[in-house]
Amino acid sequence: MSPHDSQAKPERDTRLFGGTRTRRTTVHDIAAARDRGEKWPMLSVYDAMTASVFDEAGIPVLLVGDSMGNCHLGYDTTVPVTMDEVTLLSAAVVRGTKRAMVVGDLPFGSYQEGSVQALRSSTRLVKEAGVGAVKLEGGERSLPQTELLADSGIPVMAHLGLTPQSVNAMGYRVQGRGTKAAQQLVRDAKAAEDAGAFAVVLELVPAEVAAEVTQCLTVPTIGIGAGPHTDAQLLVWTDMAGMTGGKVPRFSKQYTDLRHVLGEAAEAFGNEVLSGAFPSEEHTFH
Ligand code: KIV
Repeated sequence: MSPHDSQAKPERDTRLFGGTRTRRTTVHDIAAARDRGEKWPMLSVYDAMTASVFDEAGIPVLLVGDSMGNCHLGYDTTVPVTMDEVTLLSAAVVRGTKRAMVVGDLPFGSYQEGSVQALRSSTRLVKEAGVGAVKLEGGERSLPQTELLADSGIPVMAHLGLTPQSVNAMGYRVQGRGTKAAQQLVRDAKAAEDAGAFAVVLELVPAEVAAEVTQCLTVPTIGIGAGPHTDAQLLVWTDMAGMTGGKVPRFSKQYTDLRHVLGEAAEAFGNEVLSGAFPSEEHTFH
């Protein structure tokens, strides 16, 4: 050991943009990870406490997705989600985190009218909730919106493939199958990148098509149900943690069985109240 070793910088942890980072992830970190060929994880999350767990676990980017409709607010789809709901929950996630970039999802009806509406909605998310970026669905069809947001200094994440806000027109099925659809997906992704998007989400897309899109872009792709070749992988936290009741998408892996664990805890609490075992002396004041 040399005398200088105690002053030497700790070896850089290249996982998750540097494990010792104390500030929030920026778009520059994300671009640099792409340049290094470094993969990264991302989760959709909707409340401060759960977000703090993922922040402490080192997840570098958190999306306050409009999947809150199905996974947090009890709607059947993402379509009814409002700007008030996304703003409120995005602010909670920002408050619960120190290091993650928080991306606020523009809900259905908050940007489709045009670029000025998109700027108004995004400005609200940036100023009132404190998000570091916004996400919107569409490539070529959302070009004016992406362009104005990027020109206004608001980082934009584009969302292609299955776009759940169009569920009434599109249904829930794999997108980009067949040559024509794959070519359109590449065009959409290039359009989003050219308009200034800093990353592109690909949802429910064949792995080969996601690989092709990833090769055509200089900005990172984020896959959800898009195979292993994208730069990042995104899951909805309730699916990833086994909290979702009923059917979970095939592409989503359950890393724990939280629904079962919580159910067992609630049952044990109920039983102890019934039997009088809770509260015991330990949990009682005199
Ligand atoms: O709302 C969300 O969580 C999303 C991802 C599933 C892409 O849009």
